[in-house]
Formats: sequence, C-alpha cells, structure tokens
Amino acid sequence: MKRITKAVFPVAGLGTRFLPATKASPKEMLPVVDKPIIQYAAEEAIAAGIDELIFVTGRHKRSIEDHFDKAYELEVELSAKGKSNLLNIVRNVLPNNVSCVYIRQAEALGLGHAVLRAKQVVGGDAFAVILADDLIRGEPSALKQMIDLHAKHGCSVIGVQNVAREETLHYGIVQVTPMEPGVSRMEAIVEKPAPDKAPSTLAVVGRYILTPTIFAQLEKVQAGAGGEIQLSDAIGALLKHETILAYEFTGKRYDCGSKFGYLQATVEYALEHPDLKNKFRSYIKDLKL
Ligand code: UTP
Repeated sequence: MKRITKAVFPVAGLGTRFLPATKASPKEMLPVVDKPIIQYAAEEAIAAGIDELIFVTGRHKRSIEDHFDKAYELEVELSAKGKSNLLNIVRNVLPNNVSCVYIRQAEALGLGHAVLRAKQVVGGDAFAVILADDLIRGEPSALKQMIDLHAKHGCSVIGVQNVAREETLHYGIVQVTPMEPGVSRMEAIVEKPAPDKAPSTLAVVGRYILTPTIFAQLEKVQAGAGGEIQLSDAIGALLKHETILAYEFTGKRYDCGSKFGYLQATVEYALEHPDLKNKFRSYIKDLKL
C-alpha cells in the first residue's frame, strides 16, 4: 500500500459566520492563542507523514501563502535584535521537506467543487482532505489514525463523530454497519437531515482519506442546495462502487467554523499553553460569572 503523502486543504469558503473578521482574510487565518488554525491542520498532516500540502484558496489567498512562505525581512529584523526564539518560531512554520501548492477556486461553489480543483495535483493516489476549521486534538492525531486504518483496508476512510440528535441538520450524517469498535462500513450518507429523518447521529467531520476515484464522482455530481457541489454527494455515489469506512476517531473536536467552537478552542488551548496556562487559569477562576 502506497503511503499517503498529499493533503488537500479547502480554504476557499466565505466564512460568513465570522464577518467582519473574514471580510479580507480567510477564517483559517484566525488564531487560536498564537497560531492560525490552518497551521494546526498543517502540523497534524505533517505529523501523519504528509509532505505535500495542497491549498485550495479563494479570494484571500495571500495571507495563507505568506504564512507558509519564508518571511525574509522579518527574519532579518528578528536576527538583528537577537530574538532567536522568535526567529526559530518563524523559520519552523514548515519543515524543509514539506512543499506547498496553491490552487484557486474562483467561486465558492461548494466543498466538492473545491476538492475537484485539486484533481491534477493529486493525481492517481489516495489522498487526505482536511477542513482546518475542524480543529481536532488527539494523540495520535485523527488523521494519523485514519491513515493507519487506510493502510490496513486500502479504501476511503471518513472521519465521523457522534453528535446530539438535534444537531444532525448541521452535518452530513452516515448510515453504517458496525465492523469493529469505532470502525463501520458506510451504507449511505445524507446531507443535513432533520433530527427525525437522520439515519444515525454519526456526523462527518473535517477529515477524509479518499481514493482518487472520488474525482470521477465529483465530476458527475449536480449542484445541490445553494448551487453548491457537495463532497457528501460524491461520497454517496462512490459508495455504489467501493467500500468506504466511517471511523470514529479518538480526539476532541472544536468546530472553529462557529464562534462558539472557536471560543471553546481558544479557552482550552490557552489553559494548556506553556506561557499562559497558570495566569489564564487563575484569571478564569477569578471571573465573577
Ligand atoms: P463551510 O461549510 O464551513 O462554509 O465550509 P464557509 O463558507 O467556509 O463558512 P460559513 O458557513 O460561510 O461561515 C467547510 C469547508 O469547506 C471549505 C471552507 O473553506 C471550509 O474549510 N469550502 C467551502 C471551500 O473551500 N470552498 C467552498 O466553495 C465551500
């Protein structure tokens, strides 16, 4: 089984839930404590063995490109001021063996459309898709767990998590046949079902390992609600040809695409940050709520 080395990061969404913060900057550049959420996602991918990061960007691609690029002037300034710790942080945003590719999604026509933009660069191997706004803390990471499962079974693996039944209308929900603890065979996928119509409470969250046959399905998918091409529809079509596994990864997910999830992540990451945790913990304790 060939090692998975490429990850696609769709970062071309409009991020309307964070306006006006996302007016001129993608939501993936919002920081959780001191790192933009896209960097947590890149670190997760790299720790799982990925060495080619493929960003599908929208209107505001500059800041993401700049973030992963060499910051020559900043490095010169930090070096002149003897700030070697900060210089290391700036220099080590990406290891040297990792390369980045940027592809433009001219219009935000949906997650499926964004993934399809990466077809030529991905080529003929299985690949990962990471939605950075689903920030997942786990050791090993959710993506590493999924890559290991893919190595064992050779098929597409979709990351899922149990959600409250009243939440189903915010997610793609899967119908499954359990195989072993945490691993099920996917039978169907329904996009944003009402709670009483949902076939389960297992929701697709932002981690996917996909075989390249997904592209043929994405090319056939018709635009659905809001004129968007849904990745879930292509996965549903792929199910007719290939086994797809739904995997309940171990780890805590923060929905950083929503203000509430983003704030939860900020508070919990701050409570673990080496420079902040003691001060922040006593601040939280003393808050008169
Ligand atoms: P969301 O459903 O969270 O949409 O996209 P959004 O536009 O980013 O945010 P809101 O709802 O307006 O606040 C899920 C993921 O798919 C990417 C987004 O960047 C996000 O990572 N996406 C979505 C694209 O790359 N292109 C699209 O056309 C749509």
